[in-house]
Amino acid sequence: MVIKDKKIVLCVTGAISAYKALELARLLVKAEATVLPVMTESAGEFISALSLSTLAKNRARTGLFEIAGEGRISHIDLAQTADLIIVAPATADIIGKAASGICDDLVSTVIAAATAPVLFAPSMNCHMWENPIVRGNVEKLKTLGYHFVGPAEGELACGYEGLGRLSPVEDIMEAAEEALRKKDLKGEKVLVTAGPTREAIDPVRYVSNASSGRMGYALARAARRRGAEVVLISGPTHLPRPSGNITFVRVASAQEMHDACVTYYPQSTVVIMAAAVADYRPVKSYPAKVKKEAEALTIELERTQDVLRYMGRLKKDQFLVGFALETENLEENARRKLREKNLDLVVANSPAGLDSELNQVTFIDRENETETLPALPKDEIAERILDNVVRMKTA
Ligand code: CTP
Repeated sequence: MVIKDKKIVLCVTGAISAYKALELARLLVKAEATVLPVMTESAGEFISALSLSTLAKNRARTGLFEIAGEGRISHIDLAQTADLIIVAPATADIIGKAASGICDDLVSTVIAAATAPVLFAPSMNCHMWENPIVRGNVEKLKTLGYHFVGPAEGELACGYEGLGRLSPVEDIMEAAEEALRKKDLKGEKVLVTAGPTREAIDPVRYVSNASSGRMGYALARAARRRGAEVVLISGPTHLPRPSGNITFVRVASAQEMHDACVTYYPQSTVVIMAAAVADYRPVKSYPAKVKKEAEALTIELERTQDVLRYMGRLKKDQFLVGFALETENLEENARRKLREKNLDLVVANSPAGLDSELNQVTFIDRENETETLPALPKDEIAERILDNVVRMKTA
């Protein structure tokens, strides 16, 4: 996680959801960030400085006219040491102040003096969020490069239902990661496939495999954080849909995966085929549940279309990354797949990584450069794959 070892100024303003900022502070500390909390006077109506200081492991500051130590000025000191400033919850009031350059308390002054990225997590009544003045302020800040996460939709403390809830803290963490990341995939349109496919035998049975989808989801998140526009085409998985601005397409069979890829392929600049697409499907899919009448049942299988091979044939400027799942002759088979499917990079692995948090992979690129990594979490492997994409595309 890039959050690790970063200095994060957490600004809490006065909304009922301020209590969730305590959990956010805890998660940031758990991710090994240094959290410097700041709160407005109205935030103090909802949570105490003591709770925030305790969970952030640093004293919560409130006063604009405090001296930071050795004659340094608090707001300038905070604004300049921050790698990231998170405003959570962000009220309509603080958004308005930031959009108009008003600095009349420590939070608004830190935002105005910031040179680091600023991430707002709005929280307010749905009518306030829809107010054209608030909308205008948000648009102005977005145009100026400020980051936003949420608000989420749902039940609001004021009794209304609608857009206005503070985003879940996990989504704020993800948005913080994204705001901190180097944007070396900006301008790229990345298509990622993930998970297994299911080939129906009858309405309740299918042929599938043990892929969890974790590798593809990690790739989609990482590409998004690095500035790419991302389309994630996913077979059936138990994973939550990734948060953030990702086009998410759910498919079931190899044929559906193929059709979705054909739709998004022409406009993509990078394709990473992490899905474990079925190679065979039942010739016949029964319309009703097969009853156990016969002593034996033979299911005849036929080949599905190889989606990656198809894309390799149509390749124009796209950068194509494939996986090779091998139980023997790993490098030799992976090299053959790279050649036959017209790939730029192949990620070779064994079935040990299929339904696991970790994987151990070997990269082979089209120049035949080969690198074997130790077993690593899939988030880390995703970053290494994207490092290779950037390296080769800019070479
Ligand atoms: N792939 C695909 N369509 C298929 C099968 C595989 O696009 N019908 C892609 C996978 O997503 C992966 C790559 O091709 O990126 C290699 O998949 P793998 O299962 O390792 O190999 P296969 O090509 O299926 O060959 P084999 O089963 O003989 O090892």
